Formats: sequence, structure tokens, C-alpha cells
Amino acid sequence: MAFNNNFLEDIRSRADIVEVVSDYVKLELKGKNYTGLCPFHQEKTPSFTVNREKQLYYCFGCGAGGDIFNFLMEIENLPFYEAAKVLAERFGVPIPEYNNYSSSRKLDEMRDQLFAIHEWTTRYYQYLLMDHPRGQAAREYFEKRGFTRATIEKFRLGYAPQAWTALFHFLKKKGYSDYLLENSGLVLPSKQRNNYRNSKDFADFYDRFRDRAMFTIFNLRGQPIGFGGRVMSSDQSPKYLNSSETEIFIKNQNLYGLNFARDAIRQTHQAIIVEGYTDVITAHQHGVENVIASLGTSLTENQARLLARYAEEVYIAYDADTAGQSATLRGLDILKNEGLLVKVVQLPDSTDPDELIREGGAEKFHSLLQNYVSLIDFKLGEVIKNHDIDNPEGKVRAVQELLPLFLSIDNEIEKDYLLNQISDKVKTSRLAVERELEQFIKEKSKNKDKENKNWHTIEEKNKLQKGSDDAFEARFLSAIVKNPGMFPQIFASISSDCFRNPDYKLVVEQIYLYYLNRQNDTEGSNFPSLTTSELVESIAQERAKKLILELLFKYQEVDVTENFIKEGLNKIKEYQKTMEMGTIIQEIREIGSQGSLKDLNQTLIRYHCLLHHDSGKGGC
Ligand code: UTP
Ligand code: MN
Repeated sequence: MAFNNNFLEDIRSRADIVEVVSDYVKLELKGKNYTGLCPFHQEKTPSFTVNREKQLYYCFGCGAGGDIFNFLMEIENLPFYEAAKVLAERFGVPIPEYNNYSSSRKLDEMRDQLFAIHEWTTRYYQYLLMDHPRGQAAREYFEKRGFTRATIEKFRLGYAPQAWTALFHFLKKKGYSDYLLENSGLVLPSKQRNNYRNSKDFADFYDRFRDRAMFTIFNLRGQPIGFGGRVMSSDQSPKYLNSSETEIFIKNQNLYGLNFARDAIRQTHQAIIVEGYTDVITAHQHGVENVIASLGTSLTENQARLLARYAEEVYIAYDADTAGQSATLRGLDILKNEGLLVKVVQLPDSTDPDELIREGGAEKFHSLLQNYVSLIDFKLGEVIKNHDIDNPEGKVRAVQELLPLFLSIDNEIEKDYLLNQISDKVKTSRLAVERELEQFIKEKSKNKDKENKNWHTIEEKNKLQKGSDDAFEARFLSAIVKNPGMFPQIFASISSDCFRNPDYKLVVEQIYLYYLNRQNDTEGSNFPSLTTSELVESIAQERAKKLILELLFKYQEVDVTENFIKEGLNKIKEYQKTMEMGTIIQEIREIGSQGSLKDLNQTLIRYHCLLHHDSGKGGC
């Protein structure tokens, strides 16, 4: 971690998780906790829980959870160091100078510099567009596209000059190293550098964007992180040239325009996804503000998850000719899988939202949106379109292609609807479709059985082993994590092996590791001052962290008395003893069949000790 502990502790002690979460979630106090609708998944009844005392949050629905840092990182898509900075600024904690040269610090610093380089570049392109004679053609181009001055400023449009090294020299003068510039992706290493070594005009790098109208790509906080450059005459290619991926521009995690659209999406719970830069800009200029672009049609899981934080429904308003492509369809499934309701808008042939809105205004666009089809109807339409339904073979193939649609349906009414639709569109009897479906499902489950056979038996075995012990272990463990002050006492007498449930074993192992590190840092002196949220924050292992949060929130009513913990320790030690005796009995059996008398004798002594003392090894 790049920051030192005092800084983080300062933030923790001043920041309030309830206050921060309240910016995003309407919270209500219920008993000890605040609850509200989870911002990380779709729900109708609140299972998102915030505890002010512990400064932790947890969602009983989706398992999201953590401390104030985690919350901000998740909801704003920030790396840890950024979240810390935001909190420090908000709660008035001075941000310290870095005090050690760790590799993560170098990365943080590089990112900061890349942000700065992109900011300078944006300003440079903006200046050329608005205030320089060389920007004339680009100014005319944007004007012709109907962008107002306010729009050009808001979206920070620009012009990259017709020159090989203009930006490179501009950034060099700002003092950035070649290494950083290369990592910014805005300049490219010159291939012919050897040929020109002695030339005066020679530069090691050349500008990626030359003579292009520039679209700035922002992150969620509105910082420039990349660009798309469009040619201004139709005889050049590619039409759009885009920034490469960098440390600050990760394409599959970015949605163009989300920084501008986020509030509108939150308010309406709806997002409109379009394809391109110009579609977004024109929509926003006409007051349709919940519009974003995927910049390419195959959406990724990361993008869908990002969107699902703010939206419940998405309208897909892709160009007429790309909506049905298979990459597009995969993207739509990804949206659906993230819990979003997908509505597909069919635009008139060879138009895009940019053109439609410019010609018909926001009203025309809104009325087109209202003519959406559901994802399933859309897919149905696409399959039907591709087959000759009037001939029997075409019918058979169409039905075969459509049957998998049932796999994503878990509602009888929807199923009934789809059966009717298929028989109607394919022009065949409903009974025939039903029979085909039965056959299809049978085949599917046969294959599935094969896949799952082994898994089933293991799962069942696990279930048998689980007993009421599980509940006890959970309650006991929740008491432990609530009481970090007791770690020394607890770890003096038990280890992770004392727990039967593998999940809890993992949790104890992780806490134990943390305990050891912490002990080294502080020589055990200030252990009681340790807080639960600090513990949660320090557990690096994701699964263990989730489990700890679950334990904390599920068993928060457990009263943690010293007695409860003592009894718990005894019970757990008892369990451990039974386990050990079981192993010894097993050993005795094995020795009996093939071992020496001496071995047998020693094993019997161990057994005897275990039975009459508190375990020969002083704990388990
Ligand atoms: P379009 O070709 O539909 O462009 O590509 P557009 O947004 O409608 O732009 P105009 O109106 O013709 O100027 C949609 C998106 O696909 C990406 C861009 O992000 C573009 O906005 N694209 C397209 C590229 O990255 N490279 C290309 O060569 C073409
Ligand atoms: Mn287009």
C-alpha cells in the first residue's frame, strides 16, 4: 500500500461511512443499522446494511461489503489510492508525501503523470480548435455537424494538427520523459530513428493523432484519459483512430459519456446505449442526457456491471445495420446477465441516433425509443429474418435455433408467450414446438447430468458432514472478529485446524496471518485499540473478507462476553480432541495390521494422554 498507516487511520477516524453512503443510497435507521436499496445489484426490498459503529457495510442480497474505502472504490470505480485521496479531501485529512519507494507508489505516480499528460493534450487540442488558424477546417467540420460552442466546450472537442511531432514537442517542453510519453500512447516510437539519427528535425517519437477532429474520452470523474480522432474528409482511413490502452485507459471498463450521463441515469434508472461519440454528443446537446456509448458493439462484463450500478433498464439504440450482428447480441446477453432489463430500439435503415436527433429532435428520438422490442422478441425476429419460413427445412432450422432461448427463461408466462410467438412466426403448430422443446430439454439435461455427476456426490458428502457445528462455529467466529482485542488470548490456544468448516478455517487462517503481521509491527502493545474495520480492510484475501463481513452482519446480535469466548474455546478444543483421537484410532488399526509393537505402544500412550489430559500438546 502506498500510503502509511497513520494517514489511513486519520481518514478512518474522521470519515463517516453513513455520510458517504448516503450520497448514493437512501438510508433508514433500523435498530443498530442503516438499511437501504443496494447500489450494487437490483433489488426491491432493502438488504444493503451499513453499521456506523463498525464503519462497515454489507449487502445480504449480493454479498458486497467492506469499509468506507471499499465502498468508494466500488461505487466510483476508483483504485485504492484515489479513494483514499477523495476521502482525505472530503474529511479534511492532510495528504502526506509518500514516504517509501514501493512499486505501487511508482505506479500511482505514473498514473498521476499520465492524467496530467492527457489534461495538457486536451488543452492543446482545444486551443488549436478554438483559437488557432490551423483549426479552421476542424471548426467548420464540427459546426457542420451541428455542435454548439457550449457542446464543444463541455465535451472538450479539439483538433490534432497536421504535423508529425507537434504534440511530442509540446509535451517535451512540459518536462515529461520519453518513457512517460511512450506510456501515454499519444506518441509512438519512430521506426526510422536510425536513418535520421543526425538530422536536425529528427525526433524519436511521432504523434499518434494528426490532422484529425478530436473527441476526448473521460473517466467517471471527468478526467481525460484517451482520445478518438476522426478524419475530416471521407477519402482517408481509418474513420476513427482511438487511443491505445494505457495504465489509465482500460477500454473494457469505460463507457463514453458516463461522466456526463451518470446523474441522469441514476435519476431515471434508465440508460440509452448508442454506438458512437457523435451519437452521445448530439443526444446530450438536445437534452437527452442518459446516453452513453460502448465505442464498439460488443459490451464487456465490466462495462455492464458498471452500468448496472446506476441503471435498471437499458435501451439499445445502435445503428440500424449493426444491431443484429452476433457481437452485438453477445453484448446484450451480458447486459441481461447483470440484471438489466434490455430493450432494443430498431432505428430506420441506415440511420444512427446522431442523425435522427439532428433531424427530428429529442421528441422524435423518444418516440422511437417507445417502439422498443424486448430482448427475446428481438432475437426471435433476427432468427426468423435469416430463415426461409415458408419451406419446411427453414422452419426446422429456425426452431432449432430458437429453442436455446428457453434456457434463459424461468417464468411460465414468458415461456408460454415464447411458445406462442415461435409457432406463430414459424407458422407451425404450438404442439410441434412444445414437443421439440421437450426433446431439447431432455438432451440438455442428459449432458448436464454427465457433467455434474462427480460434483453432486462431493456436494452431498459435504452436506452430511455439516451439522449444527457449523452454526456454532459461525457464532463463535463472529464473536472473535468483533473482538480483535482478544486475539492474543484466542490464538494462544487454538489454530485454524480447530474449525471444521473449510470456509471458517480459511477465515481463521487469514486473521491469524494478519495477527502475526500486526504483532510484528506493534510488538503486541496496542492490540486492544485495533478496530474491526481495520481488520476487514487488512484482509487481502477476497473470499475471507466476504465471509468475515457476512459473519459480522449475520450474527451481530451475539453478545460477546468473555465467558462466551471461553466456552467457545473449550468446545472447539473438545472437537479438536475428538478429531485427534479419531486419527489415533485409525493409526492403531493400521499398526495392528502391519506395524511394530514399539510403534503401537507409543501410539497408545498418545491416545491415553489425550483422553486424560487437556491434549498433550498444550492446545490443538
Ligand atoms: P460509426 O461509423 O457509426 O461512426 O462508428 P459515428 O459515431 O456514427 O460517427 P460519424 O457520425 O460517422 O462521424 C461508431 C463508433 O465506432 C467506433 C467509434 O467509436 C465510433 O464512434 N469506430 C468507428 C472506430 O473506433 N473506428 C472506426 O474506424 C469506425
Ligand atoms: Mn454511427
